[in-house]
Amino acid sequence: MSGFPGVRPRRLRSSAAVRRLVAETTIEPRQLILPMFIREGAREPIAISSMPGVYQHTRDTARKAVAEAVQLGLGGVMLFGVPVEKDPQGSGALDPDGILNVAIRDAVSEAGDDLLVMSDLCLDEFTSHGHCGVLDSAGRVDNDATLEIYAEMGVAQASAGAHVVGPSGMMDGQVGAVRTALDAAGFTDTVILAYAVKYASAFFGPFREAVDSSLQGDRKTYQQDPANARDAIREVDLDVAEGADLVMVKPALAYLDIIRQVRDHVTVPVAAYNISGEYAMVEAAAANGWIDREAAIMETLNSIRRAGADTILTYWASEAAQLLSRR
Ligand code: PBG
Repeated sequence: MSGFPGVRPRRLRSSAAVRRLVAETTIEPRQLILPMFIREGAREPIAISSMPGVYQHTRDTARKAVAEAVQLGLGGVMLFGVPVEKDPQGSGALDPDGILNVAIRDAVSEAGDDLLVMSDLCLDEFTSHGHCGVLDSAGRVDNDATLEIYAEMGVAQASAGAHVVGPSGMMDGQVGAVRTALDAAGFTDTVILAYAVKYASAFFGPFREAVDSSLQGDRKTYQQDPANARDAIREVDLDVAEGADLVMVKPALAYLDIIRQVRDHVTVPVAAYNISGEYAMVEAAAANGWIDREAAIMETLNSIRRAGADTILTYWASEAAQLLSRR
């Protein structure tokens, strides 16, 4: 049977050089954002057991991680504060000397012009009940009272120097409330990275340890139902209309279809958050010798980019940048 098969797709896989030539998807350090936890009063970095290799930073080690991120050419860092004191109103979030606002100032002073300092704009790290908003007298999350606090929190973070704020609490109207407050305070250049699509996911589990969350119950009255895709498009449309500069889909791996739909639907940049549970699964399997860790990391990031994410928040950001430079 000479001449058959005449078409041989394997030809374009036959050497590393030809595979490199025709690769459709690229990952570059500038597309990666490193999420970081900074713990108030910590003297040593504290390991997060469910996220091997990730720490609650001290102010000092956080600065070093930011300096490293600059060196590696990452796109940004996303900061989370872990306060010592929590209260029902989450008032540490508004305090200019609260841990997150302090960490923003530290990071900005290390970042220079080359790295964006981003901050999580949500109350869950700061509230004693662990919800993303304040509660009404019946114990339910009070959407509109929460918006007023988010608006102030956005101004506090921008005042601390944050280049980008990331409203992540899934309250209705949060992007508009934050945009209006930022503009009124003169922060018209502060970027909003909206956690537009956020599902009530079991894969957030390790994050709750990472921020010492005190949450009882779940977030199903504000985060989205994993069964629904159209709801994601509705959320994205609202956030863009309210002034979101970038929109995020979160989690990433169980929602690659949503990333693709959102990418095809909007014109703004799309971010995806490769979250704590996605990190933990790969790390746990690799620690058992069940998968090749570095290959699994790159394959994971590749899948998220291929699905359509322009930028990825990932706990592997710095390591992935190093792996990319070794290729
Ligand atoms: C809310 C917030 C969460 C994450 C990022 N921002 C937690 C939640 O919604 O429960 C999760 C990140 C991760 O799991 O890696 N402040």
